[in-house]
Amino acid sequence: MNNNYYISTPIYYPSAKPHMGHAYSSIIADFFARFKRIQGYDVFFLTGTDEHGQKIQRAAEKKGVDPRSFCDEISKTFRNLSKLLNLSNNDFIRTTEERHRKSVDNLWKILEAKNEIYLSKYSGWYSVSDEAFYSEDEIETIDNKKLSKNSGSPVEWIEEESFFFKLSKWQEPLLKFYAENPKFILPESRKNEVISFVKSGLKDLSVSRKSFTWGIKVPSNNDHVIYVWLDALTNYLSALNYPDTNDPNYKKYWPADLHLIGKDILRFHAVYWPAFLLAANIQPPKRVYGHGWILSGEEKMSKSKGNILDPIEIINSYGLDPLRYYLIKEVSFGNDGNISKDKLENCINSDLANNYGNLCQRVTAFIEKNLNSSIPKDYEFNKDDNNILDVYKKNYKSLINYVDGQDINNYVNFIQEQLFSANKYFNDQEPWKKKGDIKRLGTILYVSLELIRKISILLYPIIPSTSLKVLKTFNINEKDISIKDIQNHEILKKNTNINKISVLFKKIEKND
Ligand code: MSP
Repeated sequence: MNNNYYISTPIYYPSAKPHMGHAYSSIIADFFARFKRIQGYDVFFLTGTDEHGQKIQRAAEKKGVDPRSFCDEISKTFRNLSKLLNLSNNDFIRTTEERHRKSVDNLWKILEAKNEIYLSKYSGWYSVSDEAFYSEDEIETIDNKKLSKNSGSPVEWIEEESFFFKLSKWQEPLLKFYAENPKFILPESRKNEVISFVKSGLKDLSVSRKSFTWGIKVPSNNDHVIYVWLDALTNYLSALNYPDTNDPNYKKYWPADLHLIGKDILRFHAVYWPAFLLAANIQPPKRVYGHGWILSGEEKMSKSKGNILDPIEIINSYGLDPLRYYLIKEVSFGNDGNISKDKLENCINSDLANNYGNLCQRVTAFIEKNLNSSIPKDYEFNKDDNNILDVYKKNYKSLINYVDGQDINNYVNFIQEQLFSANKYFNDQEPWKKKGDIKRLGTILYVSLELIRKISILLYPIIPSTSLKVLKTFNINEKDISIKDIQNHEILKKNTNINKISVLFKKIEKND
């Protein structure tokens, strides 16, 4: 069995400070990375910054600084955000690093040697904000301004000498590749969009620019810089030390298991990227998942629209784990999701404080008071106990399948249901009335602790630091967490001590 798993976030443009959309991509990727680790996989989780191109050059010019120092500065804020979000990434790549330049340079040379690239002239529309070329039918005129229909960003007309990649040649091989790898693009609805785009006819793609300099030079012609998307996509290889195909990381992790991206950059990942790779005779990644947007009101959150919810501010006021939980649970994964402080507060109060926090506190406080803080040693499961404990074993495979199919919502629903039934179990069993029956009392409490343990393991990929806090009271350390252990009922050691769990989430006072 291949025990390696490679997952990536998009690499972010350090053109402005990070916002909630970026935090979202990263948190979701971290969820998968952490889950696969506790499933026993050797995970490589990559994130980073995409630092070349006209967009960055212009942003730097606007600030009156050179692009290099501009990127150094803002890339740092993304690196800091990855720490603040408690990402478990193994690497952080910057496209201005030498290791990356080497990879891009090599990939270009291969494509050129294979006769996949030729010199010609580009004339057409370009959006600097999207770093994308658009055809006439992909743009519209609003208030005398030419805009991309898709993203709404302004386009400008460019005419310049350019190298082209023979994308048209890869139309049929790509369609064949999609047919042979039906789960290469997810979710399904977006896969269909991509396939119809490819079927509608692929034109050769301009892959170099001559009118600015901030980028990696075309090896054979230094007047040109390599198109920023060809440059950026290669980050997934350069982090594994490509072109050294004997590098242990390259051997272990390529092809990547999952490129997690936003839907706006699906075309680059699901069309251009596999075409470049097929042309260079490199295996394409196994899957590209295009998630929806985080909306504020009805609109995509973006700097130009000025409707940004700042992740750092939210974390400072509410804490990280509530934000992680909220984004993972509240957004129907794959679709757009509307977020607000109000909904975040409801989520903290009901799911986190009432359902999870309260359960942990009630059970452990009861044990402290009545069993001198020790895990019961006398217990015997009856039918009710076995039923509630067995749910995890019965659903174990489905849970793994949910994650492998990026069905995050069903995974979270399962946790929510189990939180509900664990609370109900504790209420229905009324341990406070069983103080005279030490065995039954011990059983109820042992079962309740086991439920908390199992739920905390399931919560680990979502709210790692809170889950760890709880698991540590059971003497389970991070390196020992294993998803398999949710199937067993007798992991907790009898007669060892358990400390009372303090308030995990503070309830938010609301005025309504
Ligand atoms: N640099 C490119 C990606 C190159 S990957 C080889 C890029 N960068 S970005 O900073 O503009 O966006 C990075 C990711 O953030 C994209 O996946 C994008 O979809 C995501 N988001 C940006 N705004 C978003 C929301 N409002 N909501 C959710 N995600 C969105 O594109």
